[in-house]
Amino acid sequence: MAKFIIQGRKPLKGKITVSGSKNAALKIFPVSLLTQEPIRLFNVPEIEDVFRAQEMLISLGGEVKKIKKGVYEIKFNGKKSLDMPASLVNKFRASIMFVGPILAIYGKVRFPHPGGCVIGAGARPIDLFLNGFQKMGAKVKIFRHECGQDYYYLTVKRLRGANIFFPKISVTATESLMMTAVFAEGETILKNCAMEPEIVSLAEYLNSCGAKIKGAGTSTISVKGIKKLKGGEYKIIPDRIEAGTFAMLAAASNSGEVLIKNCQPNHLEALWTLFDKIGVNYSLTKDSVLIKPAKKLLACDVTTHEYPGFATDLQSPYTVLMTQAHGSSLIHETIYDRRLLFTDMLTQMGANIIMADPHRVVVNGPTKLYGRQLVSPDLRAGMALIIAALIASGRTEIDNIYQIDRGYERLDERLRLLGADIKRVE
Ligand code: EPZ
Repeated sequence: MAKFIIQGRKPLKGKITVSGSKNAALKIFPVSLLTQEPIRLFNVPEIEDVFRAQEMLISLGGEVKKIKKGVYEIKFNGKKSLDMPASLVNKFRASIMFVGPILAIYGKVRFPHPGGCVIGAGARPIDLFLNGFQKMGAKVKIFRHECGQDYYYLTVKRLRGANIFFPKISVTATESLMMTAVFAEGETILKNCAMEPEIVSLAEYLNSCGAKIKGAGTSTISVKGIKKLKGGEYKIIPDRIEAGTFAMLAAASNSGEVLIKNCQPNHLEALWTLFDKIGVNYSLTKDSVLIKPAKKLLACDVTTHEYPGFATDLQSPYTVLMTQAHGSSLIHETIYDRRLLFTDMLTQMGANIIMADPHRVVVNGPTKLYGRQLVSPDLRAGMALIIAALIASGRTEIDNIYQIDRGYERLDERLRLLGADIKRVE
């Protein structure tokens, strides 16, 4: 299993460029099923989850052509299968985004429960998707597939527009039903929607190809059904989670000037508000963030929240940052109940963290961290462990780095450009 070997406490300075957004890119491959025309993608992050989404599209009958780094042309040539292969679905949660388009164009689809980051108790639920598809007229059956896994089998004669209220705010459920409703008969009204920038970007792309979506980025989205969607060109927005994570790495290292380029700071207002309270020395432009060493970092509580609140995907790097701040900070993770378990490994490195319950930890700082043998449990916790290792004394080994490669492009190469001593060992 590939791993990273890190020698900590090297001063970090220089420039780092943010890649295209993982959580925007993953939603565009399923859209190609809704049009007979090609889609040209720009600023595509070359990460494992995107490669899985490309493999899924090919397994369903699509074509993926690499034009050059970060530029792809994708085209769906008509169905090869209605079964989404378990080997791929088990690898990433966003595989669920293919269900709606297949159902919309073929009236039936079979798939196992999606895999991906284990950050919620048990398998992350998909009830919001299934309820939404049922409201649009689909029938849902569960059966045991010959591969031994439980599969969902959805069928529908013709999807019809519906009024759907989400009892819980969900990013992918909002995106999935919004894109599926493009091909439903009549109008669909989605209420209590997620408002993330990736949803706005997806709606803008779909509208540029002829869809009639209003309200993306607000809690109510309306979609008027259409018969035909054109192809088009789509530039993936910068990854706000990567930008925020690099900003917290630079603040935690506190050892040199770091310029984070090609990002959209206006997608991270909750983080900058926290930086003001903590005392991070930072400045923003329209597309960059500059972090300079600060005299003293102060502890500050945080509660994760749906956008535009503080993103749960930034919680683990923030928890590491708080190990270097003066005082006690309460970290309240409201979205998932297994996303604080990684703090156990920070404690092994020397951090002073008390777990109050699955949703709350108290971090007391500042504490010195020491290198250890670690295993990356999932994508964001894995990145947080890399930050901890870069500010720790001594040598750290991080195993299972496939989890990190799922969401960060050539991470070790980019960190070495900042002066980090990080090696990839296959
Ligand atoms: C998206 O996941 C992101 N993934 C996640 O990023 C991110 O953590 C999450 O949104 C929240 O911001 C992608 O976009 C591919 P949710 P998603 O549905 O849509 C519950 C990363 O690290 N829920 O908004 O799967 C769910 O259990 C990943 O890049 C139901 O109960 O998250 C959670 O508690 C990790 N039933 C809450 O809603 C459902 O049917 C929010 O989850 C669906 C979700």
